[in-house]
Amino acid sequence: MDLLIKNATLTDGRTGIDIACDKGKIVAVEPSITVEAGQMIEAAGCLVSPPFVDPHFHMDATLSLGRPRLNQSGTLLEGISLWGELRAEQTVEDIAERAMKFCDLAVSMGIGAIRSHVDTGDDPLMGVEALLHVQDRVKDYLDLQLVAFPQDGVFRTANGWENVVRALDRGVNVVGGIPHFERTMADGARSVRALCELAAERGLPVDMHCDESDDPMSRHVETLAYETNRLGLHGRVAGSHLTSMHSMDSYYVSKLIPLMAEAELAAIPNPLINIMIQGKHDTYPKRRGMTRVPELKAAGIKVGFGSDCVMDPWYSLGRADMLDVASMGLHVAQLCSRDDMAWCFDAVTGNAAKILGLDGYGVAPGCDANLVVLQARDRIEAVRLRATRLYVIRRGKIISQTPASVATLDLPDRPAALDPAHYP
Ligand code: FE2
Repeated sequence: MDLLIKNATLTDGRTGIDIACDKGKIVAVEPSITVEAGQMIEAAGCLVSPPFVDPHFHMDATLSLGRPRLNQSGTLLEGISLWGELRAEQTVEDIAERAMKFCDLAVSMGIGAIRSHVDTGDDPLMGVEALLHVQDRVKDYLDLQLVAFPQDGVFRTANGWENVVRALDRGVNVVGGIPHFERTMADGARSVRALCELAAERGLPVDMHCDESDDPMSRHVETLAYETNRLGLHGRVAGSHLTSMHSMDSYYVSKLIPLMAEAELAAIPNPLINIMIQGKHDTYPKRRGMTRVPELKAAGIKVGFGSDCVMDPWYSLGRADMLDVASMGLHVAQLCSRDDMAWCFDAVTGNAAKILGLDGYGVAPGCDANLVVLQARDRIEAVRLRATRLYVIRRGKIISQTPASVATLDLPDRPAALDPAHYP
């Protein structure tokens, strides 16, 4: 046996569980396994989960903060224009180097899979070239899906459509789009139709930035659900952001959500970015711009939380911490019950993995031995503490370790050490 983890707590609440891994796979998950193993981890009751999954990211823009300048207004539109300035000055090597640095960070934070949009707006397709290279370079320790993302709109720019097709020809995995950024609502709807047809022809999934605005009349998700149904793309299509749904009339939403469920559309809110960027044009009260997560969830729609950005033209913070994303999602969507809080952990692990269609994901015999040992006793505690990733395991091998977070105290008549995972 290559690896034996002793005394784990699992996300379903089982405790005192041992996990045996061999040849990259989990071979047994049960109490009291006694077997010789090359490596052993004493989990001591800590939570052992499959890895975090980030279903929405922009790896071509990450870690570019301040280049060539900062976003002064904090709006989506200034971010897009700032990205245009950066795009004009960067190189393939530069994009790849930043992306590789981010992948290092992501692995250390227990992320095992990322779906990254890659801008296809520049004719040389530098981001595509860089991220295809990175995808290959990291494949042994990180699953990277790439979405052909026409940041400036497929119909708004001269080569918008051709560049998406060229990116897919080069091996990008998913068809993207940005209907709310096309010139008109009609062009937006036309882009959804054309891109879904392209995905149907090529047998690819779809993941569109959809209705990322506070405009309640931005209803491209309706067209996305319609086209998904018409073309039989059920289960292969995701709508990212969907922030306009926050501002829509509730009667309209009562019709929209069942349409989305019928199409088996997945929803990918990005809580950190949505709470920072939406409502910027409001005075008070300011809309919070998060899509209707409790209602989507109640309708049986797959919802995964994405991080979207780390230190780029749109968001100057972030550290690849999917528990930070889960925590923000929990708060903004007011997911207050214990079940809902635990579900927020699932939104950055199992639910996101389902949206990406990952095979072999989970903690069960036969699954890939991809695991994270967290300094927490359960899913809610992991979110509450943004728990330290004690061990990150890929195909049965430890690929990252972080020391436990323990404070040393020097106080009269008080304990000498405080472990946040066991406090109180
Ligand atoms: Fe995005």
